[in-house]
Amino acid sequence: MNHSATYFDHNATTALDSRVLQAMLPFLSKQPGNATSRHSYGRAARQAVDQARAQVAEAVGAHPSQIIFTASGTEANNLAIQGMVESNSQILVSAIEHPAVTRPALTMRQRGNSVASIAVDASGKLIDSSLQNLLSQPTSLVSVMLANNETGVIQNIAEIGEMVRSQGAYLHTDAVQALGKIAVDFSALNVHAMSLSSHKIKGPQGAGALVLDKRVDIRPLLYGGGQEKGLRSGTENVAAIVGFGQACELIKQELSEQALIVTQLRVQLEAGLKKLGATIFGDQSERLPNTSFFAFNEIDGETLVVALDRKGFAVASGSACSSDSTEPSHVLLAMGIARDLARGAIRISLGGKNTATQIEVFLTVLENELLRLKRLSAIAI
Ligand SMILES: Cc1ncc(COP(=O)(O)O)c(C=O)c1O
Repeated sequence: MNHSATYFDHNATTALDSRVLQAMLPFLSKQPGNATSRHSYGRAARQAVDQARAQVAEAVGAHPSQIIFTASGTEANNLAIQGMVESNSQILVSAIEHPAVTRPALTMRQRGNSVASIAVDASGKLIDSSLQNLLSQPTSLVSVMLANNETGVIQNIAEIGEMVRSQGAYLHTDAVQALGKIAVDFSALNVHAMSLSSHKIKGPQGAGALVLDKRVDIRPLLYGGGQEKGLRSGTENVAAIVGFGQACELIKQELSEQALIVTQLRVQLEAGLKKLGATIFGDQSERLPNTSFFAFNEIDGETLVVALDRKGFAVASGSACSSDSTEPSHVLLAMGIARDLARGAIRISLGGKNTATQIEVFLTVLENELLRLKRLSAIAI
């Protein structure tokens, strides 16, 4: 494994921040407490979990009592979708959701629910009239992500909330990619539930949260000891939760500075990409500042990812979570991008430690690799 490779895949996961690790260490090595135990060890663990709950809540403008810790963003999405939907009703999900939303929605078909997809336009934004039309059928739950993991396109969730509420349905938003990259305010977003994940924000893998409006009627996925207000039984992963809380604390201090760094780097990157002839997806819309999703005509995305990896750059071809699939990105297809161009898609997701020099070197390497791949395909023909 090439550990000196330049990491351009921060939407897939982020390295643990050393300050987060420091906060976690006592709970990994010294502190044996189960947060439900009554003795001093248990109380210390409970106190640590409650502090993290307050930190996560503060980072998203929620009350600590609204935070339900889970093991991942995927679990938070499953809890919202499977727990909030009413039987025999319609579920609406946007056409660009992560599989961690779409798949749990589809499993609800076995329980008598119907699932419909809300269309997006060529810029990756939800089409309001598509949502309005679908809402004419009795609907119990709508799920629209705050920011897309591939394009970075940000949706007007607060406006969508108005439409959904006026029809008496619940609105869930997957804010896994938005947290740490843009300001996220639970009450301003006007949603009933919102999913978060720790490992996308320099926290550890193995922690996530569902932020929940307390008036929502929701059933748990897991039953047992009744932790997390009975909504997520299972002994809390104290160290991971503490790390998640600490990572949220860092967002509060560093978000604007980090956003500025990655914004400047992306301007430099996309200027270079355009010179090389790239199509940049969703660039007409408001996007996460760190994300660039692009393709070159007649260049296969998977091939380019492998070629760039050999040259020391870690980039993604579409969603990392579906990287075993050879199908073009469902997000791009939903935006009406031609299949051939969509097959070429590459995602670069920057982090605050990336530098202008890395972008400069990357653009030179990319130019050479594009020339090489074009020469190879010319020989093959
Ligand atoms: C938009 C979105 N939702 C959910 C997830 C899943 O989160 P986790 O990895 O914490 O299960 C991801 C991960 O890539 C994501 O990008």
